[in-house]
Amino acid sequence: MEKRVAVLPGDGIGPEVMEAAVKVLEVVGRRFNHTFEFSYGSIGGDAIDRHRNPLPDETIALCESSDAVLLGAVGGPKWDNNPSELRPEKGLLAIRKHFDLFANLRPVKAVPSLLQASPLKEEVVREVDMIIVRELTGGLYFGEPSNHTNQSGVDTLIYTREEIERIVEKAFELARLRKGKLTSVDKANVLESSKLWRKIVDEKRKMFPDVEVEHQLVDSAAMKIITNPAAFDVIVTENMFGDILSDEASVITGSLGLLPSASVRSDRFGLYEPVHGSAPDVAGKGIANPAAAILSAAMMLRYSFGMEDEAAAVEKAVNTVFEDGCFTKDLASNQERALTTTEWTDKVVDELDLQFVSN
Ligand code: NAD
Ligand code: IPM
Ligand code: MN
Repeated sequence: MEKRVAVLPGDGIGPEVMEAAVKVLEVVGRRFNHTFEFSYGSIGGDAIDRHRNPLPDETIALCESSDAVLLGAVGGPKWDNNPSELRPEKGLLAIRKHFDLFANLRPVKAVPSLLQASPLKEEVVREVDMIIVRELTGGLYFGEPSNHTNQSGVDTLIYTREEIERIVEKAFELARLRKGKLTSVDKANVLESSKLWRKIVDEKRKMFPDVEVEHQLVDSAAMKIITNPAAFDVIVTENMFGDILSDEASVITGSLGLLPSASVRSDRFGLYEPVHGSAPDVAGKGIANPAAAILSAAMMLRYSFGMEDEAAAVEKAVNTVFEDGCFTKDLASNQERALTTTEWTDKVVDELDLQFVSN
């Protein structure tokens, strides 16, 4: 197959982890006889510096002419005091909105060889296999009015029926293909938007009688994600709650640098982005964990290109490298033996190559 991939490295560790993901995809292309054509575009702080625009028109055009988009991360202290329209984060929100990528899928799965890296007890972590389905183009992030003066600040939490229906349906469909359990997380004891959310979940469950549904308030959900994470299968929630709960859930696995994500809509097009940010504290040191970016690329192979075997090969290679005791600094218990981003990526490349030699 021939596929066009737009690569938007962004800021901080974004370029470092994107280089790793592209390297792995190149091996997949060579081994499975696919041609991936990579075209690079700017977004975030990088685009502000070059074009005074966090999402330039040419980046949108590049993505429109591509089959899928891979994104590193945006943001950093350099742009933190910029006006709202010239913030790197605006570019990320704008690209999600422009392409109507309303569903952000964030899987959180325990890796057997990494159980010790988690601050949680091994028996709590062992069976964890959940996916957070985060609404991505509505809610507080996009509601109007949104502004502040010296005296007051306002953000607006608004959801339409249509916005809730499509994300809830997506989550039900996923639950049906997994363990058949859906947890809808809201704040329906206080928020009006949550009351509508809960009502729509209850309407939709009639179409999915095979899926077990529970409602959970977000504050206690945050607690249960840590005390009993294995009890979750699919979590569906609004934009802001999903943002917070997914970083929290990354703790279960051992590092934020492990969590991939797919931002998708109803067709095959998607934007694939690690859950983590630009990590200014480690940027430029060559020590970032590229696993989240590499696993995001695997999600792209699976969801956008229908390449299940290829995605599984990448995931297997990543797991084998962990099983072999190879870690970047964020996961290494012996910090002196931690691998750099490039060294760790090369281990994954070697593992992929090995899969072909042994087959
Ligand atoms: P962050 O996710 O960048 O970093 C949080 C912590 O996790 C840091 O200590 C960092 O070093 C560590 N970390 C994250 N990813 C890692 C990796 N792959 N390997 C090793 N360590 C890793 O969150 P933050 O520090 O709150 O935000 C920094 C900047 O990133 C901000 O400008 C924020 O707006 C932006 N951000 C962007 C995205 C995105 O582009 N998708 C997501 C989150 C935050
Ligand atoms: C994420 C990030 C973004 C979000 C920021 C950078 C706008 O935290 O992708 O999780 O809040 O969606
Ligand atoms: Mn986030």
